[in-house]
Amino acid sequence: MLTEKDKKKLYQCAKKASKFSYSPYSRFPVGVAVLTKNKKIYLGANVENASYGLTICAERVAICNAIINNSKDIIAIAIFSEKGESSPCGACRQFILEFGKDIEVIFKRNNKLISKPIDNLMPNSFTKEDLK
Ligand code: THU
Repeated sequence: MLTEKDKKKLYQCAKKASKFSYSPYSRFPVGVAVLTKNKKIYLGANVENASYGLTICAERVAICNAIINNSKDIIAIAIFSEKGESSPCGACRQFILEFGKDIEVIFKRNNKLISKPIDNLMPNSFTKEDLK
């Protein structure tokens, strides 16, 4: 179980990660921190491109960072944005769900830190179970 302190700490890591954002077009830096079962934290930030559609969201960068470091057991993901209260876009919700329906998604709403299992943010979703 994640404590409030754990959640705050992960959110602070996401804030730090946002400093690495490459977002000259939107000027909307996003930072993400992923926590894995073995208590490791992997960071990500959004990376934009002059060909706008190639932009990669911070969530996907952070998850790929965890995966290629051999940490697939994701417990939680925190999202920070400098300019607003960002929660994962639809594509990123699908991407998070791939690695577990119970992953806690931590973000700010009405100036408060909240967390919800990804399953709650993505009801009736398409998953690998549907491919069986
Ligand atoms: N962005 C993310 O990094 N994550 C999201 O879930 C929503 C949007 C980025 C993409 C783009 O660089 C900027 O925020 C504005 O859309």
